[in-house]
Amino acid sequence: MTRMSAPETPQAAPRILSGMQPTSDSLHIGNYLGALVNWVKLQDDHDAFYFVADLHALTVPTDPEVLRERTRKTVAQFIAGGVDPQRSSLFCQSHVPEHAELGWVMNCLTGDGEARRMTQFKDKTAKGQSANVGLLTYPMLMAADILLYDTAFVPVGEDQRQHLEITRDLAGRFNTRFGEALVVPEPYIVKGSAKIMDLQDPTSKMSKTGSSPKGLIDLMQDPAKIAKNIRSAVTDTEAEIRYDVANKAGVSNLLIIHSTLSGQSIDELESSFVGRGYGDLKKEVADVVVAAIEPFQVRMAELLDDPAELDRILASGAERARGVAQSTMVRVRERVGLLPAAR
Ligand code: TYM
Repeated sequence: MTRMSAPETPQAAPRILSGMQPTSDSLHIGNYLGALVNWVKLQDDHDAFYFVADLHALTVPTDPEVLRERTRKTVAQFIAGGVDPQRSSLFCQSHVPEHAELGWVMNCLTGDGEARRMTQFKDKTAKGQSANVGLLTYPMLMAADILLYDTAFVPVGEDQRQHLEITRDLAGRFNTRFGEALVVPEPYIVKGSAKIMDLQDPTSKMSKTGSSPKGLIDLMQDPAKIAKNIRSAVTDTEAEIRYDVANKAGVSNLLIIHSTLSGQSIDELESSFVGRGYGDLKKEVADVVVAAIEPFQVRMAELLDDPAELDRILASGAERARGVAQSTMVRVRERVGLLPAAR
């Protein structure tokens, strides 16, 4: 990390921050293995902030009641997946208005062409999805999310790398133009599990919006359905169980899912599957996934049974988040030349 300026208060542990959009009733195993598993590991020795990116979710039109429900479900999944609200600050992005405010400042630092070149915007508009201006400025709001908290590391999957790059560019640009005030963050992306692929199309990433139901492993899905989807995963016409992403994308994806959940290395798995077929691999992957998901689903049922407790967790996380965000915005407003309001 490049520390550009001292934060307001000395930090005992490096700060990490990450978020997920509440755009579905269930996270999928890509969200879990690519991000959530690392959030859980990192909370032990980092000052962790994790949030539900509900403002980002507004870029996709959603029924308001559904969005509220998914926001609670998303935070419940963070907790069911192992994030501890006692150690990590869990909050909802819209509960900290400074995100939108710094997002505006970031918009004003970004070139029009620069925003239009971002892959996510280009991909979605190329697919004919109708785009609003929120989708175009999505990366600037994400930069604000990160820069508000003097974030050192951002644990995300591979698909967020370009967003991290523009965040770093914008922090550097702000510091050059206005004097050093923002910390330039580092991505924290773990090889292999950072890009879990669609079971039906293993050359495309598994995605809440882009994958077909058979291509997904949803954490809230019926375990029998999960096993069925894994059994019908697309592989290849060979018979050898070997990790080779370029030539054996489907098999490699199953090996990564197995390895990340079971803790066995890819080498160990390759050895244990010598002489065995794809059916055996799929059965074992299904067993490993279902064993991990069952306790998760039990915990989810308990958490969703007590929405008031979820709201209390979000309230206390937002209070802590606001404290940090407000002090960053004092610094930012002063640097860019906004007149302080008289009291
Ligand atoms: P979102 O909600 O699409 O995804 C949440 C997290 O899951 C990761 N991920 C994957 N990892 C591995 N394999 C996959 N197939 C896969 N699909 C998704 C994502 O990389 C992400 O880490 N823009 C973010 C939300 C956000 C954010 C932020 C993240 C808003 N502000 C600030 C970090 C910091 C997003 O849409 O994630």
